[in-house]
Amino acid sequence: MTHAEPKQAMIEVRGLGKMFTLHNQGGIRLPVLRAIDFDAAAGECLVLSGPSGTGKSTLLRCLYGNYLATEGTIRLRDTTAPHAPWVTLSHAPEQVILKLRRDVIGYVSQFLRAIPRVAALDVVADPLQQRGTGRDEARARAAALLERLNLPRRLWDLPPATFSGGEQQRVNIARGLIGGHPILLLDEPTASLDADNRAVVVALIREALAEGRCLIGIFHDDAVREAVATRLLPLQPATAIA
Ligand SMILES: Nc1ncnc2c1ncn2[C@@H]1O[C@H](COP(=O)(O)OP(=O)(O)OP(=O)(O)O)[C@@H](O)[C@H]1O
Ligand SMILES: [Mg+2]
Repeated sequence: MTHAEPKQAMIEVRGLGKMFTLHNQGGIRLPVLRAIDFDAAAGECLVLSGPSGTGKSTLLRCLYGNYLATEGTIRLRDTTAPHAPWVTLSHAPEQVILKLRRDVIGYVSQFLRAIPRVAALDVVADPLQQRGTGRDEARARAAALLERLNLPRRLWDLPPATFSGGEQQRVNIARGLIGGHPILLLDEPTASLDADNRAVVVALIREALAEGRCLIGIFHDDAVREAVATRLLPLQPATAIA
């Protein structure tokens, strides 16, 4: 990376807590995240680390507004709006969250939620079209990304529902990266990929960082983590915190 200018803070988390209440289990309360504080800036790749079950995926889901935090605040900087204001995500109304997801924050989940009957190429092109790019241009850029990720052309016009795990994951990664969101959340994006495709994803992630995007991710593969992380955020079991 050659960026010399000061890094702009993009995400700010203060006192974040998440407790699940299992209503169909007699209301058992399960504390998962507690007192999480961090900032992340443009050009950073913050990697969540910690044993299985410590709440790494839960934290990403809170940051994407999928899970409602039970304590604390999450703020994102909307660099697509004039003067790049901070927007509070925690407890934001649905339309604010949808706007942030369209313009500011992208998410590559571990598994693709296949949309029935939509061709892989259109699944990938969709985030660009949502932001106003014409269909042909969006599909051309989707094709370039799928080509780079070695997804065989014969699959491009088919819905991904029947694709292999690694093929679905590559569609998912392409869909997450294409929109150019300034903040990107990645939940084990290379988990089901072979070595060649892992290397492509590492290269794409490094390009996203060089463009000044802010990444927060989970990577179990040590080599991938070493190649992309600029900082680690270790999580520990919430029950272990006094
Ligand atoms: N929707 C939910 N309802 C109840 N409990 C949940 C829910 N989502 C997650 N949990 C619980 O929260 C804890 C943390 O789960 P999470 O998936 O965030 O862990 P993780 O750190 O990502 O683990 P892994 O490394 O195995 O992916 C787990 O004990 C899980 O059972
Ligand atoms: Mg997880």
